[in-house]
Amino acid sequence: TPPVRYEAENAVISSGAVATNHLNYSGAGFVDTANAAGAYLEWTVNAPTAGTYNATLRYANGTAADRPMDITVDGSAVSSGRSFPATADWDTWANSTLPLSLGAGTHTIRTTATTANGAPNLDHLDL
Ligand code: GCU
Repeated sequence: TPPVRYEAENAVISSGAVATNHLNYSGAGFVDTANAAGAYLEWTVNAPTAGTYNATLRYANGTAADRPMDITVDGSAVSSGRSFPATADWDTWANSTLPLSLGAGTHTIRTTATTANGAPNLDHLDL
């Protein structure tokens, strides 16, 4: 089955704002989190059946420094300090894909910045 797209602007934003001041995003915009450790987005997703899903985060990082994030599912770590390295500029987006083993039903995916630079800009999550 084709992936379902969850737009970042529809996620719960702990610290940050929906923005449109860069190019090439999907949907109505993207999320620019605060430049602070602990800033997160919380995505509510659905797994129609139990199984392994590829979760693809689309992000932009127009700085030279990595913007690592911790990824949790239902509060459990699945990828800690995951690297979101520089893209060419803030208009250039890259995909970061990780496999998630999910039971059938609704799940909460949290993506949390681990450094004072905050998260990369986030466009969507395909699952
Ligand atoms: C710039 C850029 C933002 C980005 C921010 C950051 O202000 O325009 O889109 O989120 O840098 O450093 O996080």
